[in-house]
Amino acid sequence: MRSMLSDEEKQYLIWLTAERYEGWGAVIDLGPWFGSSSAALAEGLRRTGKTGKVQSFDLFEWEWEPSYMEAVAHEQLKGGADFLPTFMQEIGDYAPWIEAHKQDLLSYTWEGGPIEILFVDAAKSWELTNAIFKGFGKHLVPGRSRVVLQDFRYHETHWLPLIFDSRPDLWKEIESVAFGTTVTFMPLKALDGPAGIHYDYSEAAFRLEAAELLLRSRIAREAPQNRSLFLRALYRKAVIEGSPDTAHAGTLQALREELRVAGITKEELESLESWTILVPLGWEAYTRHDYEGAKRFAERCLSGSQRPVYAVALLGMALLRLGELPGAKSCIEAVASRMPDYLPSKLYRAELALAERRYADARADVLEALKAFHDDEPHIEYGLGLLEQTLHGADRGHQALTMLTSLRACLGGSPAFLTSLARAQHESGKRSLALQSVAEALEKAPGHQGAMQLREEWANG
Ligand SMILES: C[S@@+](CC[C@H](N)C(=O)[O-])C[C@H]1O[C@@H](n2cnc3c(N)ncnc32)[C@H](O)[C@@H]1O
Repeated sequence: MRSMLSDEEKQYLIWLTAERYEGWGAVIDLGPWFGSSSAALAEGLRRTGKTGKVQSFDLFEWEWEPSYMEAVAHEQLKGGADFLPTFMQEIGDYAPWIEAHKQDLLSYTWEGGPIEILFVDAAKSWELTNAIFKGFGKHLVPGRSRVVLQDFRYHETHWLPLIFDSRPDLWKEIESVAFGTTVTFMPLKALDGPAGIHYDYSEAAFRLEAAELLLRSRIAREAPQNRSLFLRALYRKAVIEGSPDTAHAGTLQALREELRVAGITKEELESLESWTILVPLGWEAYTRHDYEGAKRFAERCLSGSQRPVYAVALLGMALLRLGELPGAKSCIEAVASRMPDYLPSKLYRAELALAERRYADARADVLEALKAFHDDEPHIEYGLGLLEQTLHGADRGHQALTMLTSLRACLGGSPAFLTSLARAQHESGKRSLALQSVAEALEKAPGHQGAMQLREEWANG
């Protein structure tokens, strides 16, 4: 089967269900992609004739460019395409042992009882890792469950060794592969009990000094072939912390030298500073209104041989905010032509049109994007804010109401949308409809800030 796992990792998963699985809890695969991890877990069940099924959770959405999925599988699927049918095809005869769930793990809670084996290959961000703890953690049984972390030794998920190694009172390492990145832990106490776990781990929770202590102690315990993997993780952490002060520059330089001695080539070193860390750092700067900083991060990504589209998008938006319209235009148009179906690119194009006072063009792009955002609240909110800026003239209230009403069929489930609709209804004198929309927004998201604020304003007359 097409797979992102090493042979030893697959053998380990087969061994786990064949030799260690007792049957008192669920076997769960988070992030099976084309299913090789699920099939390996199923193979262990099949060989030993055990009952039980592997519960496989994935978004089953093809990664947008540059797609690590495309690099492995050459399926030529479009960004966002559903690959559940390919998963079903690939697992073939293992289907009776596997139950597939198309789910976004950012917002999912497991209600299926105790978990015996939790294989995790989807903890691809701090946010996702927290969400997995939140959604599955309380079903882990102290001293009995296994949490198998496929990415533990992978440098792009440097948070995993930080989170797990910082709590030796809570996590005990019990197995690992010799060649590959998988390491398995057992919880020693209840995750949601006293002295349990945090659900809000973040980069800021581990300063560089603390991270270095944890990672160096891990390096000392690992077999020689795995040590440089954690050195790579430490280097990434140092790049992320990257304040330009000289002490920090010295740390980075020393780490580069250490990596060189460990046999890491210059190209590999460059790839460690990849867009996957620089682009988010750039957007953070952008959110702080540090547009020069955002531009620098984007340019750093674009200085190599690759031109990752997300860095081009960041550069375009930073230039737009800095008033450098021609540069912004060429970046934003490049993003739209490289990823015509990528919805945020329509919003960037709308921003450009707004800056050029092409209000009708901006409106068309925002409306198209909004109709397709299903439950992506941050983008819906962003789009609604832009939509408002496209309206001009004395009857803008009426225009807003007409437009929002036309969007209701697509966005009626979004609290942000219902709040905007309520405001437009209220401004057009349709008070009881407005109250109804606010109530609906609060029903979907109790405590929604915008909706609460409107209700309060209206109650005060
Ligand atoms: C590295 S791949 C897994 C490889 C796989 N375990 C194998 O055996 O080849 C990571 C998987 O995580 C999934 N994923 C990423 N973010 C997710 C999310 N928010 N919810 C569910 N799945 C997600 C991706 O769709 C992808 O299939």
